[in-house]
Amino acid sequence: MVKTEVIVIGSGIAALKTALVASEHKHVILITKSKIRHSNSYLAQGGIAAAISDQDEVSLHKKDTLAAGQRYNKVEAVEKLVEEAPLAIAELLQSGMQFDRDHDGSLMLGLEGAHSERRILHSHGDGTGKYIMEHLIGCLNGSKIQVIENEAAVELVVGEDDSCIGIKTLDRSGKLAVYHAEHTVLATGGCGSLYQITSNSQTVSGDGIALAFKAGAKVRDMEFIQFHPTLLFMNDKAEGLVSEAVRGDGAILVTENGSPIMQDIHHLKDLAPRHIVAQTIFSYLQSGEKVFLDISMIKDFKKRFPTVSSLCEKNGVDLQLGKIPVAPGNHFLMGGIEVDESGRTSVPSLYAVGEVACTGVHGASRLASNSLLEGLVFGRALGDLLANLPARELPAEKEYPKVSCHIASLPDISDLQEKLMSEAGIVRTEAGLIRLKGYLEAFHIESLLHPDVTGRSLTEITKANAMIVAWLIAESALTRTESRGGHFRSDYPSEDDSSWLENSVILACEDVK
Ligand code: SIN
Repeated sequence: MVKTEVIVIGSGIAALKTALVASEHKHVILITKSKIRHSNSYLAQGGIAAAISDQDEVSLHKKDTLAAGQRYNKVEAVEKLVEEAPLAIAELLQSGMQFDRDHDGSLMLGLEGAHSERRILHSHGDGTGKYIMEHLIGCLNGSKIQVIENEAAVELVVGEDDSCIGIKTLDRSGKLAVYHAEHTVLATGGCGSLYQITSNSQTVSGDGIALAFKAGAKVRDMEFIQFHPTLLFMNDKAEGLVSEAVRGDGAILVTENGSPIMQDIHHLKDLAPRHIVAQTIFSYLQSGEKVFLDISMIKDFKKRFPTVSSLCEKNGVDLQLGKIPVAPGNHFLMGGIEVDESGRTSVPSLYAVGEVACTGVHGASRLASNSLLEGLVFGRALGDLLANLPARELPAEKEYPKVSCHIASLPDISDLQEKLMSEAGIVRTEAGLIRLKGYLEAFHIESLLHPDVTGRSLTEITKANAMIVAWLIAESALTRTESRGGHFRSDYPSEDDSSWLENSVILACEDVK
């Protein structure tokens, strides 16, 4: 058994920022189930939003974030995000991060959906995530942080006082390890790969949410899932993201015969909030029409969008024809483990940051390019908190009663991905969500809450966690009888401020019957 002060699980921007800041005063072990370069942050294209131009104001960034979030955001969290954004960028620049610049040396700022100003910093065109992550990995290599790759967190260790005292992991050979830590941070990302069509890395499967939930943490807003409007869509399969910055540079969504589809839908047309664009494309696809991004008006497309260009070329799209076939897919989870602005969950000594966490900052739908920013701002806040916490004695481990669980009989993950896409996807109904819940509950979700992980394979544990996360989505989506942002119910198609603006679906272990 290994003992340390802080464990961070994950390898995206929030994980690295938290670990780097905490390591200024604490011994930190960072554990990732795959390789350090394998994360959604690494795949991020568009960029990182900050009100830094002379025309822009922090108050406008706040206004746009709240409007995209359908006013459901936690205002204090939004204020923290937008007010600290220029500082987060300054820190990156000071430590040597290079963003794209104009001929006169000023930072180039892109535009994306629902932003009223150009405020998206980018690097190597659409390679922003990769280059920020390479920069942070460079900082990690220069730190004392111990990095462990290819070990998956499979259980949080809970003490007799109900605080978190560490984690159990499984490596690729199936070896179980136990790490005791004074403080444990989950930075494992959202749950995109539980859906059939997604922009996410296949490793992002919601396990941090399931682990925290099983350890007693509250989970909220799981019905709010952002479907990115434009994934490259070939032969009924999503092949990767086509950044919203492409529409920011003038591309428009058209049918096969070239008719624009967003003209009469919203005053921002192709740059309307993501849920509106995604729902519009979805209705065309449902009626049997294909939808394309017309990029013919963008000069030097390959130079401005090298990542999208190489993705298209790899998949046989001829960019000379000026049309990219697209479909919406799961991109981002606004909900997650409930935390305060410093990342504290409802379980003592357990913290969450980044997409796995729900500060309420994104409300019902995240504003484009606010997610890398979230990782930096809330990662800094949590890192600062951890760095300054006093040492703590760990209590003895809590014993859970042994349960007979149904883990061995769980269906293949592809079955679940299909069901989530069709019943808890872009358009939801009460009947579909009840069908989904019935399907999940037939596998005895309650028996998956405290199974003994000893002797279980990683595939079995991943499947069990996926079932729990799917149940959280189904239950939350069924409970919220309105439509708002990333949650659209065709049987309750409008926002219902009187019942829902001030109310959240918050779930805990006891709610699983
Ligand atoms: C994109 O480049 O379209 C994705 C950026 C984001 O989700 O913030």
